[in-house]
Amino acid sequence: MDKFHIALGPDSLALGWPDGDRQDYPFLWLRDNDPAGWHPETKERIADMLSLPETPVASAARMVDGGLEVTWADGPVSVFALDWLGQYRPGRRNPDAAGPDPIVWDASLGDVPRHDADAVLTDDAALLAWLRDTLRYGATVVEGLAQEEGAGLRLAERVGFLRQTNFGVSFQVRTKPDPNNLAYTSLGLPMHTDLPNQELPPGIQFLHCIANDATGGGSILADGIALAEALRERDPDSFRLLSTVAIPFRFHDTETDIRSRQTVINLDDLGHVHEIKWSSHLRDVFDMDPALMPGFYRAWRAFLTLTEDPAYRVTFRLKAGDCMVFDNRRVLHGREPFDGASGRRHLEGCYVDRGEFLSRIRVLSRAA
Ligand code: OGA
Ligand code: ZN
Repeated sequence: MDKFHIALGPDSLALGWPDGDRQDYPFLWLRDNDPAGWHPETKERIADMLSLPETPVASAARMVDGGLEVTWADGPVSVFALDWLGQYRPGRRNPDAAGPDPIVWDASLGDVPRHDADAVLTDDAALLAWLRDTLRYGATVVEGLAQEEGAGLRLAERVGFLRQTNFGVSFQVRTKPDPNNLAYTSLGLPMHTDLPNQELPPGIQFLHCIANDATGGGSILADGIALAEALRERDPDSFRLLSTVAIPFRFHDTETDIRSRQTVINLDDLGHVHEIKWSSHLRDVFDMDPALMPGFYRAWRAFLTLTEDPAYRVTFRLKAGDCMVFDNRRVLHGREPFDGASGRRHLEGCYVDRGEFLSRIRVLSRAA
């Protein structure tokens, strides 16, 4: 066996790896993660933390065949597999095949990655390659789907179960009489994320183009991380307001009145931009302290200006059989106006939440 160096401190074990790497493993953490504390079949935790010593102490440790054996002062012995100790290092994020690793882009990207529908629908390796691009870029186009209703849903179901909303399991984007949504008119749609009025706005959005014969109606995408980072750099006060002041969003029609308070920019615990909620048409009446209003309106205008800046936009025309797929809580989308009299335009939309999408990447990555 390779040479490992083990040193027991008062409250942690230091492991020197053969390659010279050294890692401290707190006793508290080792005892908490004793493999015997997990159900062997369900892989869920079964140990009761209150039945463990509050300050466990290791009395001995040595390398054995199965890994690192730790003998605890109160009696039990734990064996930790070496590859597990290598992957899980206190202070480092747990390994995750679907962990965030965004490629942040602007107009210089030219186009989002494109993938072939037949391959994605029939081959798991092609499916994984497409999902990984969608994860890293936040947006892709799948080309060559059937030009009929349902084909985009089958693509989405290849990823996970669909997220239903008040617009249905899927929704038809075409001009309608008595529209309850600007998307169902021929108007241009300013850059937005869908449904920030929902408690949890939908994660991955699918817009499958069934027909696009009308004049106009081009598609626009912009990476919300790039927009937010540009704001952070140019106007930190506006960035702070958009990431701390929650504002009301609302959708209401004859059947529903769905409201949620959201910050435009949501940061993760490391301060990275995690989500964007942005819709000029679903924002409700601002109700913050009037003292905040001058700054907040300035911040809103600053972000709006960025959403309209061609330097951050990728534009393209969907053709029948294309499906644009994007992370609706990262990438903003919009549409140029079209002439409804000039030809048919019909998209079918649906959503899969982020959790299902990320799970699919992890499970497919096990085999890859
Ligand atoms: C939507 C939408 C874009 C389009 O339905 O949410 O943004 O191109 N549609 O019609
Ligand atoms: Zn939309």
